[in-house]
Amino acid sequence: MTDKNDAPDAAPEAVGLTRGLTNYGDRDFARYLRLSMARSMGLSSDLLKKPVVGIAATYSEFNNCHRLVPELVAAVKRGVLASGGLPLEFPTISLGEVFLNPTSLFFRNLMSIDTEEMVRGQPMDAVVLVGGCDKTVPAQLMGAVSANVPAIQVVTGPMMTGRWRDERLGACTDCRRFWAKFRAGEIDSETIEEVEGQLATTAGTCAVMGTASTMASLAEALGMMLPGTAAIPAVHADRIRAAEASGAAAMMLAAKKITPDQIVTEKSVENALRVLLAIGGSTNAIIHLTAIAGRAGVKIDLNRLNELSDTTPVLVDLKPTGPFYMEDLHVAGGIGAVLRELKPLLHLDALTVSGETLGERLAAEPGFVDRTVVRTREEPLQPEGGLVALFGSLAPRGAILKRAAADPKLFEKEARAVVFTSLEDLAARIDDPDLDVTADDMLVLQNAGPLSPSGMPEAGYLPIPSKLARAGVKDMVRISDARMSGTAYGTIVLHVSPDSASGGPLGLVRNGDRIRLSVKERRIDLLVAEDELARRRAELPAAPPPPKRGYARLYKEQVLQADEGCDFDMLRADPSR
Ligand code: FES
Ligand code: MG
Repeated sequence: MTDKNDAPDAAPEAVGLTRGLTNYGDRDFARYLRLSMARSMGLSSDLLKKPVVGIAATYSEFNNCHRLVPELVAAVKRGVLASGGLPLEFPTISLGEVFLNPTSLFFRNLMSIDTEEMVRGQPMDAVVLVGGCDKTVPAQLMGAVSANVPAIQVVTGPMMTGRWRDERLGACTDCRRFWAKFRAGEIDSETIEEVEGQLATTAGTCAVMGTASTMASLAEALGMMLPGTAAIPAVHADRIRAAEASGAAAMMLAAKKITPDQIVTEKSVENALRVLLAIGGSTNAIIHLTAIAGRAGVKIDLNRLNELSDTTPVLVDLKPTGPFYMEDLHVAGGIGAVLRELKPLLHLDALTVSGETLGERLAAEPGFVDRTVVRTREEPLQPEGGLVALFGSLAPRGAILKRAAADPKLFEKEARAVVFTSLEDLAARIDDPDLDVTADDMLVLQNAGPLSPSGMPEAGYLPIPSKLARAGVKDMVRISDARMSGTAYGTIVLHVSPDSASGGPLGLVRNGDRIRLSVKERRIDLLVAEDELARRRAELPAAPPPPKRGYARLYKEQVLQADEGCDFDMLRADPSR
């Protein structure tokens, strides 16, 4: 008997559970076996013939932000069933930002591998990715772009704000504000405990424009998430309806064979960068967007980021730079309001998971915008974008400064370096009353980049030495190869590349060296003669032996620098595949 599935390349005709059958000679037997096993799940023969929508579910009790994932998965299933498909939920690992050691970024690529391989390896016509916390959405999008199966993102949505006395609180910019007060001796330990109880009071992701909110916004701007869904609070009924609509959209994507390579393109990546700049988004998003784009073969050049930054105004007034929270952005008009304002700067022919282009989407949207939260281009919060890349002898491959969250008084400055050689050294000495430091110095942290043992933690927000904090110092220039939480603020130079652990010049800085920062010139330079640097380089201690086994070994062998998104070399797009 001949069967079309006997042809070596029969997969394109297969739909639903009969996709990707193994072929050890008797393909009909493989199909019969698979469907028999599927029957054990209690599925009717009707359902077995439907297109399958996989749902990548990331519920974990180690991930507070994902508490309502099961509710969203149930809603996605309703949307798929109502559209004539078979929804099948499957677990992937989950990355809870504050529970992972050494850092959640270390595991982002692992989660992207898990997502990619399970989407590719299991029979599904489309996939709905349900995630939310900082690294989860990038990992899911990286995996989906590489698997290139029709895909749509659903995020868990942001937390609502809490109240403490007469103040409105949201994780986690306010966490930092109160902790700085505590370090400066302005509030006592009982008060800080009271505040702790009110900072994160509902399910969902951090309430400010931190990394999770930024990545949700970028997923929408990229076209990988349904219009209007980035900012819906986690506990709002609209969030559940958005999940149901995403299930239906996944069926449409499967029918029209709209794959991520049609959506994540040079144009949509540039649109996402514009939105990142206009929302004053997290510095981490540069790394994640670079990694997602890299999976599609699109390169983000930091010089191009600067060009876009110079021509994109900051429009959104959320913490950590402004007073508002994500729930305010939702009622103010959401990311749609931002996109409409940016319209002349965007590539409107970019396709989205709604099946429409960005231009069609924006033409069809209602016009209400609360201008206290989302400003106009004519009267922006700042005329230029929130992030800039710096280059120079200290950062030959670039560094990032979130100028929207920094103090312009510190932008043009030459100063003395006060160096911490590792996270341990920082912890041991930052609060030492004998530390030789003044408010005029620049704090430098080494060995906290992607190749360091800590895997690039959010340690770039170096605390102000407590003797200076107590004297009222609120900001200093701080420089490192680490990252910074999207909820933090200060004049903080991050992602210095190449990092110290890979032999970058940052590792050659010594106490007392002069460093020159010029935001105007986009430069960061170490003012030390080349022969002195060569002498120091020759004296560097030998690198510690690499991890012998497991994921840590893979990470060490494969991880790229920040300017390449800290992806694994082997996972980047291979045009020959
Ligand atoms: Fe998950 Fe902040 S801890 S978004
Ligand atoms: Mg964060």
